[in-house]
Amino acid sequence: MTDQRLLHAQWSSRTAFILAASGSAIGLGNIWKFPYLAGEFGGGAFVVTYLLCVALIGVPIMIAETLLGRRGRQSPINTMLTLAEEAKASPYWRYTGWLGVAAGFLILSYYSVIAGWAMAYIFKINSALFVNIDAEQTGRFFEAFKSSPEFQSIWHTLFMIATVAIVSRGVSGGLERASRYLMPALFAMLVALDVYAMNSGGFGRGFAFLFYPDFDKLTGEGVLAAMGQAFFSLGLGMGSIMVYGSYLPSHVSIARSSLFVASADTVVALMAGLAIFPLVFAHGLEPGMGPGLIFQTLPIAFGQMPAGWLFGMVFFVLVFFAAITSAVALIEPAVAWLSENLGLSRKQASLYAGAACWFIGLGSAFSFNIWSEVKLFGKTVFELVDFLTANLMLPLGGVLVALFAGWVMKREISEAELELGEGRAYPAWRVLIRYVAPLGVLMVFLDAFGVL
Ligand code: TRP
Repeated sequence: MTDQRLLHAQWSSRTAFILAASGSAIGLGNIWKFPYLAGEFGGGAFVVTYLLCVALIGVPIMIAETLLGRRGRQSPINTMLTLAEEAKASPYWRYTGWLGVAAGFLILSYYSVIAGWAMAYIFKINSALFVNIDAEQTGRFFEAFKSSPEFQSIWHTLFMIATVAIVSRGVSGGLERASRYLMPALFAMLVALDVYAMNSGGFGRGFAFLFYPDFDKLTGEGVLAAMGQAFFSLGLGMGSIMVYGSYLPSHVSIARSSLFVASADTVVALMAGLAIFPLVFAHGLEPGMGPGLIFQTLPIAFGQMPAGWLFGMVFFVLVFFAAITSAVALIEPAVAWLSENLGLSRKQASLYAGAACWFIGLGSAFSFNIWSEVKLFGKTVFELVDFLTANLMLPLGGVLVALFAGWVMKREISEAELELGEGRAYPAWRVLIRYVAPLGVLMVFLDAFGVL
């Protein structure tokens, strides 16, 4: 009896971790961002670079971040501080935690705007306007929606309210139970869209675009975007996974769970790409059209299917759900910090963090319309915040985690935590985390900024 309860508790903890980590990883990054970046940066060569970054930099850092979380067992800032003390290293390592809080906060500010688009499409897709809609009409429709500052701020506000409502109640419970069913449902929906895309007449071209690498098309900027997308999509470099790792029981294999989550995340992104590019080519659309890509292609498919309005609604509900499980992970470090350090209740902390995020997010909401000409370094507010966070802050946070786990933390500790046995797995991880990941990020930075 006792044994059984113990076994059950163990199984449910491992599942809970995998659900929370996949919920954080799988989101708009997979369904909205990956396809449009792949389209913008020329397809195959971007995708190959992205996959290499996931395998050689992302997975080792995911293992390291989870490991630090489980060893420190506190919020990221305090975890870094405790672990630095344990290793007799500088207390300045806690700024790694700070960088993460700031990055999560900034990402959520625009994430909420885009999630608002998905929310709005839940309702729009079911209107008669979308029946047999063609590429030009979806484009016009999306442009009209994007250029309304009212619509942009209303949906952004609604998404932020939903996020705060969930975070202030604590993440466990309803949301966690729901993700058991809704994540597989999203997966099934993508399978259906892939099958549809296979018969759309553009599958060959879409497939070749995504998987045939033409490295002449790849710029330094594209390589940086691919690496940034690896961090963004896996949800690394800002302490989300560190927080989840801190709840992980000590007997669960960190490496195996990380590999599982990273594979699921990657498969979902590739499936989204395979659903979208065949439509892009079948309907003569422009692969590099930018952030509107899924909103201008998928409605064409839904408009042609029997009962497409229903499929479309269900699809955008699931995208909304995937976005909110990520949003919760993005704001969690800020909420944890506010409640720990300012003595606020969880409700107050979520409300303040959400309100500040909402305010900053208005900048992104308006960057698609009234502020579309307001530019710094040639980028709109949305583009600048995205570039700063995904391409600079996350890789930097990730490198700091790698350096800490590989060079500062004692070998005995990481070896004992990872329990990879006598084989080659531990030494391989160690080489990746000490050399490959940090030097990889450094080289991508140097390449992108024209030093190499
Ligand atoms: N990975 C999520 C997505 O693809 C977004 C996200 C959640 C995230 N937590 C994160 C991004 C932490 C960076 C860091 O949509």
